Amino acid sequence: MLFSKRILKLSESPTLQLNNKINGLLQKGEDVINLTVGEPDYVEPIESSYSAIKAICDHFTHYTNSSGIISLRESICAKLLKENNLAYTPDQIVVSAGGKQALFNAFFVLLNGGEEVLIPTPAWPTYKQQVLLCGGTPVLIPLDESSEFKLTKETLKAFITPRSKILVLNSPSNPTGATYSEEELDDLVSIVEENGLYVISDEIYERLVYSGTYSSPVGINDYMKKHSVLVNGFSKAFGMTGWRIGYTAAPLDISIKIAAFQSQTTASISSISQVAAKYAINNFDKEHLIELKEKRNYLIHQLADTPLKIDVEPGGAFYLFPRVDSVLGNSIYGESIDSVEALCASLLEREHVAITPGSFFDAPNNVRISYAKSMQEICDAAQRIKKYFKEGMK
Ligand SMILES: Cc1ncc(COP(=O)(O)O)c(C=O)c1O
Repeated sequence: MLFSKRILKLSESPTLQLNNKINGLLQKGEDVINLTVGEPDYVEPIESSYSAIKAICDHFTHYTNSSGIISLRESICAKLLKENNLAYTPDQIVVSAGGKQALFNAFFVLLNGGEEVLIPTPAWPTYKQQVLLCGGTPVLIPLDESSEFKLTKETLKAFITPRSKILVLNSPSNPTGATYSEEELDDLVSIVEENGLYVISDEIYERLVYSGTYSSPVGINDYMKKHSVLVNGFSKAFGMTGWRIGYTAAPLDISIKIAAFQSQTTASISSISQVAAKYAINNFDKEHLIELKEKRNYLIHQLADTPLKIDVEPGGAFYLFPRVDSVLGNSIYGESIDSVEALCASLLEREHVAITPGSFFDAPNNVRISYAKSMQEICDAAQRIKKYFKEGMK
């Protein structure tokens, strides 16, 4: 057989596939408003751009330490201490090509065949695929609006088996925006600890929380600090998706293994991106958060009298995740809409607004709408969506 059994289990990222399709339409000159994107419309801090140009001119363009340049790892430690009250040393940090690689490193060093990874769902599809690639068994824990898409102690307990090894937490969540409070995390951690689980805490949307302060699951207690891999990165907070910088912060024994693994798979990530990240880390622009909140509130208000009405206001990230089962089974513009895929395809065809089917996140009754776009695009998209339902369902 040509291909490995591992690769035959893999599905390509459906969100990136959809994005490629939409980019194709845009290149053909179609007037599409793309609300499928998982990246902000703002860009990196200017200090990052200048420092990266300087790094190139200074020929800071060779391999670096495979875990990342020491000054960036020190800055990450300083950030984790100051903002999250978490004390790490630079040897506990590994800088990777995006949060995606950081997550893969963590699954790879922790998982043996047959070990189960608990994934509260709706979830970013990459978790499941990476667990499968690493020989683990993803166990999806279905959640819905009734718990505001948040895992509770009782539900977690019901899914634990003797093979459970890791719980994935992603707060704020892609796709639901659900953001856990410290009390909610406390509750979950009691079960995590009782069952000796490890936690992979994906904190990539950490800075995009709209009310209250962010609580990292890793900061809940000493058990968590010793049994968690914290994953974060620069893509979402700083609009630096193309620079590809993420990191893990982990107990030293885990970090040593992640560093060894990355040294054999990647050598080191781009030296130039690392310099840019070092300058970004202390320059988060709070204006981005204010603007995103305005866009969120505007869109929620505009969609209130459409079938995309929001029942659960998302506390963070930049997605709305309305339930659309009131539309499923109906006909719009004479076409039968029997699935969220059909709804998204019809909205794209009729009104040139692209949104993501919830089925990509194992939620076949919802759709994901990204509002990390310009206010003009959000306004136009809202008008087009309203027209689509008003005219199409007459
Ligand atoms: C929940 C979540 N985690 C991690 C990532 C990885 O981001 P990156 O690899 O760009 O750092 C993404 C990107 O979409 C995400 O949505």
